[in-house]
Amino acid sequence: MPTYVTTPIYYVNAMPHLGHAYTTIVADAYSRFRRFCGDDVRFQTGTDEHGEKIAEAAAKAGETPRAYVDRIAAAFRETWPHLSVEPDYIIRTTDADHVKTVQDILQRVYDQDDIYFSEYSGLYCKGCERFLTEKELVEGKCPDHQVEPKSITEQNYFFRMSKYQEWLIDHIKANPDFITPERYRNEVLSFLSEPLEDLCISRPTSRLIWGIPLPFDPNFVTYVWFDALINYLTGIGYPDDPNFSFYWGASEHVIAKDILKPHAIYWPTMLRAMDLEPFQRLHVHGYWNVDATKMSKSLGNVVRPRELVEIYGVDTVRYFVLREMSFGLDASFSGDAILARHNADLANDLGNLFSRSLAMIDKYMEGQVPAREKASLLTPDDRELMSAVSAMVAEYREYMEAFAFHKALQAVWEVIGLLNRYIVANAPWELAKHPRQTERLRTVLAFLAEALWKITLVLGPIMPETAAKMATALGMGDRFASAVIDDAVIWGQIPAGTVVGQGGQLFPRVEKKVEAAVPAAAGQPAKKEAAPVQEEGLISFDQFKTMELRVAEIVAAEKVAKSDRLLKLTVKAPEERTIVAGIAQHYSPEALVGQKVIIVANLKPAKLMGIPSQGMVLAAKEQQANGTERLVVTTVAGPVAAGSRVA
Ligand code: MSP
Repeated sequence: MPTYVTTPIYYVNAMPHLGHAYTTIVADAYSRFRRFCGDDVRFQTGTDEHGEKIAEAAAKAGETPRAYVDRIAAAFRETWPHLSVEPDYIIRTTDADHVKTVQDILQRVYDQDDIYFSEYSGLYCKGCERFLTEKELVEGKCPDHQVEPKSITEQNYFFRMSKYQEWLIDHIKANPDFITPERYRNEVLSFLSEPLEDLCISRPTSRLIWGIPLPFDPNFVTYVWFDALINYLTGIGYPDDPNFSFYWGASEHVIAKDILKPHAIYWPTMLRAMDLEPFQRLHVHGYWNVDATKMSKSLGNVVRPRELVEIYGVDTVRYFVLREMSFGLDASFSGDAILARHNADLANDLGNLFSRSLAMIDKYMEGQVPAREKASLLTPDDRELMSAVSAMVAEYREYMEAFAFHKALQAVWEVIGLLNRYIVANAPWELAKHPRQTERLRTVLAFLAEALWKITLVLGPIMPETAAKMATALGMGDRFASAVIDDAVIWGQIPAGTVVGQGGQLFPRVEKKVEAAVPAAAGQPAKKEAAPVQEEGLISFDQFKTMELRVAEIVAAEKVAKSDRLLKLTVKAPEERTIVAGIAQHYSPEALVGQKVIIVANLKPAKLMGIPSQGMVLAAKEQQANGTERLVVTTVAGPVAAGSRVA
């Protein structure tokens, strides 16, 4: 099956930042996932190089537009390999074939009388490169660029967009997947409930020359959005290339909400005027914010993805953005959040599990994956693991298809948690002490290797470099490149006797953290952060924010042997983790199971009585009349999902 995945083509008036990186990583991970499902995928990104903004940026940089766009387009192109992003094609709107196709399309639409000449007055936002309606303004300003749009009256060419309004409404209503998530579909339908105006598609050369000349009037250049959207067609060789006929019917555009209107309204109506099928799906995500403000060049608060890669490695960055943002909603970037994800989810949960498992195969099985016992001898633990792995693959598939990347990753991390518990429950180091337990030891280690192979496979699209390392260490390097999702379903793929390597450290812990540049008001340089003022007994909000408090559901509790103070708790927050709490004198284990408590989730892991503890349960200490203390664990007043952040 064909799949055609695109990102927006980025304006070359700014260097790539985390916002651009996010969309492109999403498109790359989704493309890899579809390939993993057996599809024939084409993935395209590119740069949008015409228009007023670009001409201005070039003038500011003291360069010709041509030299300027070449330089910045190269910076985008060079960024992608650092993020393990592998597009099949990178388009530039200054490419000769694109320019020709745009002109051919304009001529055709003009000839069929869908373009006419007229005068127009409107409110123009240069940042958006489009006229805004009064309704779109917030306190008189463009909400994205925080500037008042300019009132402009001009003679221009117009595309009869209004003619296609009814058709578009019907199409959106008949195709629930056309625009997702649903909130954006609703937003578009609500916008379409008012009469649609025609679209101004030209700029007079007296005002702008850096654009594609209109084929039917040399005094005008093409409006940048009419030019840019067509990239999705020229990149696959419209109209004559076989790639066009193969891929167009399977097109999926990924964008952020800032450019919803051009994609959900201008673009389908343009396609309709060209007698082409609309795109298949439009996937719309929210913004990466820093301190509740959209990360953007004009606001001066950008985070550079390559700097993050240098500190954490490429796969932490990919994992972080996909895990941290619920596709469709806004997310906040902070140095603390990526540090916590790196150290907890990756170094601790996945990295330790992997190196520990391979070390045990090395130590007890001379580095070879053992044969497992016959099915009749499997324990309930083994069966639970097998069914959890197949449930994980099913959920992963469903969530990846729906662009719910954070949920797909949660499903994988649930199995990682389960595997960590499987090791503790089966204690291979104990089995190894008793020759009669050798068979059991073989099964446990074979199961571990097999489950890690499944995890490797499903992580491939998200963290390609790490998954390749894991596959090689598991002795499955050759199988990895050609693996398909069904390989993650069928149990027993690693042949007995496969030689495993050392797990190594997949994710070395990072102590340092990076903060985004301090946000500055538009146009002003970023301010230096003032030294924190210490007032006795008070902490700053930033200090408070370093503490990650979460709601955790206690799913299991037991006494710690040889301790009358400690309880070992298994909690979900939302991934499972173990916390050793000093509350045994105040609670019986049974009384705690099912309770939702508040934990400090980013406390450095520690070992208590030999048990690794990842976090701390908060409890109130009540002073008793007899001088002793009573501990009461903190709970939440109403129903709330485990893992919710407390702030
Ligand atoms: N050139 C147009 C797009 C034309 S597509 C036919 C454009 N370019 S842009 O450089 O401004 O890129 C906008 C896109 O970059 C967003 O839609 C999103 O994909 C990404 N992002 C830029 N800043 C972002 C955030 N702060 N957060 C999330 N994504 C962001 O618009």
